[in-house]
Amino acid sequence: MQVIESVKDMQTFSASAKKRGTVIGLVPTMGYLHAGHGSLMVEGRKLSQLLVASIFVNPTQFGIGEDFESYPRNLDGDLAIAANAGVDVVFAPKAAEIYPDGFQSYVNTEKITLPLCGGSRPGHFRGVTTVVAKLFNMVLPDIALFGKKDFQQLAVIRRMTMDLNFPVKIIGMPIVREADGLAMSSRNAYLSTSERQDALCLKSCIDQARAAYLSGECSRTALQTAAQWLIAAVSSAKIDYIEFCDSRTLETVETVDENTLMALAVRVGKTRLIDNTVFGENQ
Ligand code: PAF
Repeated sequence: MQVIESVKDMQTFSASAKKRGTVIGLVPTMGYLHAGHGSLMVEGRKLSQLLVASIFVNPTQFGIGEDFESYPRNLDGDLAIAANAGVDVVFAPKAAEIYPDGFQSYVNTEKITLPLCGGSRPGHFRGVTTVVAKLFNMVLPDIALFGKKDFQQLAVIRRMTMDLNFPVKIIGMPIVREADGLAMSSRNAYLSTSERQDALCLKSCIDQARAAYLSGECSRTALQTAAQWLIAAVSSAKIDYIEFCDSRTLETVETVDENTLMALAVRVGKTRLIDNTVFGENQ
C-alpha cells in the first residue's frame, strides 16, 4: 500500500491510472478508522481496480466550539486497517495544501442541507461538499463510497454530484453496529463507560419506533413523542433532534410510511451521536 501526501502526486497518479482505463474507487474518511469504514473499503475493493482511501480531518466542516482539535487521530492504526482491507493508496494530505492561504471558493448545496444536522450545525455541509468536491478533483474516482449512518451527508453528496456533473457513482453502504446495537462512529471513543451504556438509547428509540410502525402506528407525533420520552429517561442524554422525514427530500412528514427516514441526533454527555433508520428497509 502506498501513502500519498501531495495533491499533485495524487492527481498525477490517478490521471495516469485513468489513462490506462483503471476503475478508481474512493473511500473518503476523517481517519480513526473502524469496522464501518472497513465495510466501505471491502466493498470498494470489489468494485474498483485502484482503491484509494483518503484520511483528512477537514477543518471547514467543524463549527466554532466543535471538536476539530480533539477529533481522534491515529494514522499508524489507520494505515494498518486500510492495508488489511485491501486499499491500494492512502491519500493523507495536509490542511495547508487543501486550504492554502487565500482559499475562498466553497461548494454550497442548498435546500437539502437545511434540516436535521444542517439546522444544528450551520456551515457543516458546506465544509463537507467543499472537501468532497476537492477530493473528487484530486483522486478522479469512478465510484465513491459513503456510510448511511450519515444519511443526510450521503443525500447531500448525491445531490452535489448530480448538480455539478461529477462523473462519479455514489454508493451508500449500510450502518455497521457494535454487537449491542450502537452505530459505529469515531466519536464513540469520547464516551465514558457509563455514557457508552447510555448511548444505546439511540438504537432503542429506533427499535421502539420500528416496532410501533410495524404494529400499525403511522402518526409522526405519536412516534416522536414516544422517542422523546425514552431519551428523557436517560439522565446523560439530551435531544438535538428526532425527526421523521421523506428519505428522498428530507422534508418532514406527518404520516410515516416505508419511505420515511427516522433520524436522530442526541448528546450523551458532551458527545453528539447520530443514528437513523428508513422504515421500509431491513435493519
Ligand atoms: O464522513 C466523513 O468522515 C466526512 O464527513 C467526509 C465525507 C470524509 C468529508 O470530510
